[in-house]
Amino acid sequence: MRAAMVAADVGDDVYGEDPTVNRLQELSAEIFEKEAALFVASGTMGNQIAVKVHTRPGQEVVIEERTHVFNYELAMSAVLAGILFRTVASENGTGHLTWPEIEKAVRAPGSDHSAETGLICLENSHNLGGGTVMTAEHCGDICGKAHRLDIPVHLDGARIFNASAATGSTVAELTRDCDSVQFCLSKGLGAPVGSVLVGSREFITEAHLWRKRMGGGMRQAGIIAAAGIVALTDPADRLIADHRNARRLAEGLAGIKGIAVDPEQVVTNIVIFDISGTGKGSDEICYGLKAEGVLASGFGSSIRMVTHRDVSESDIDTAVGALHRFLS
Ligand SMILES: Cc1ncc(COP(=O)(O)O)c(C=O)c1O
Repeated sequence: MRAAMVAADVGDDVYGEDPTVNRLQELSAEIFEKEAALFVASGTMGNQIAVKVHTRPGQEVVIEERTHVFNYELAMSAVLAGILFRTVASENGTGHLTWPEIEKAVRAPGSDHSAETGLICLENSHNLGGGTVMTAEHCGDICGKAHRLDIPVHLDGARIFNASAATGSTVAELTRDCDSVQFCLSKGLGAPVGSVLVGSREFITEAHLWRKRMGGGMRQAGIIAAAGIVALTDPADRLIADHRNARRLAEGLAGIKGIAVDPEQVVTNIVIFDISGTGKGSDEICYGLKAEGVLASGFGSSIRMVTHRDVSESDIDTAVGALHRFLS
């Protein structure tokens, strides 16, 4: 990736003249079988532009309650789009809402009292669900029913390539009927920076204006787009290796006293495990692991670990060993 960055042809992307950014956008649109694509600085920027373009101030956006867009984007949708999130709990715990769960939260236009639903937001794979995946059929069902009510669907596909590797469906199949998709070149794909928003030409034309307004016109951005092209053209079996490592990690963790995790539920590159039985807090454990060079994030009585291209099978055994030592 660094070699590709050094060699990248560049131009001024604010004028649409960076050949490497243009190539990344064309490649993205082609892979997702959408009309157009836009390179953005981050997943957050891609999601927030999508919410803004799809909605009008005063509308509601139906979204699962543990999603990134709702929890970790600093309420930017309230600031930029002026919308209200109507959050819904996922009954089955996967983070993937069913249409009946969504339908109960949808509000029709024309009421004197309730704000109408302007958008439905989905997330695949679901980060806090533990990297769980939504199938192409499930997503298609939601989109079809939403469209019958004239409601667009945005997918936060930060890790959609992981979902693709896990299900065997292409990213185009997994997102076929979504009106827009944000996917990250960073995270599982391993690029240092950047995300891409894909959708109809009309949607992307509008998104392009919002990227500029948000300060996302990055001039000679081909330097970072070049790494994104490498990420997109990498063989998919690398992600399968990450998933195998995550499963190995979960199996190792399941053998440690006080830790609860079901390895069967680990289908992509995220492992979330419960530490209630250890008698220690998640912050204390994460600090202890960091001292041994193992990075993890804690929240409440859970810890989250993620595998990626720089984590090998032997690193997994190191991580399990470090936790085992720390707890004993
Ligand atoms: C599901 C999901 N969506 C969006 C984002 C935001 O991406 P970024 O950190 O590039 O803004 C993240 C980041 O962790 C994420 O997990």
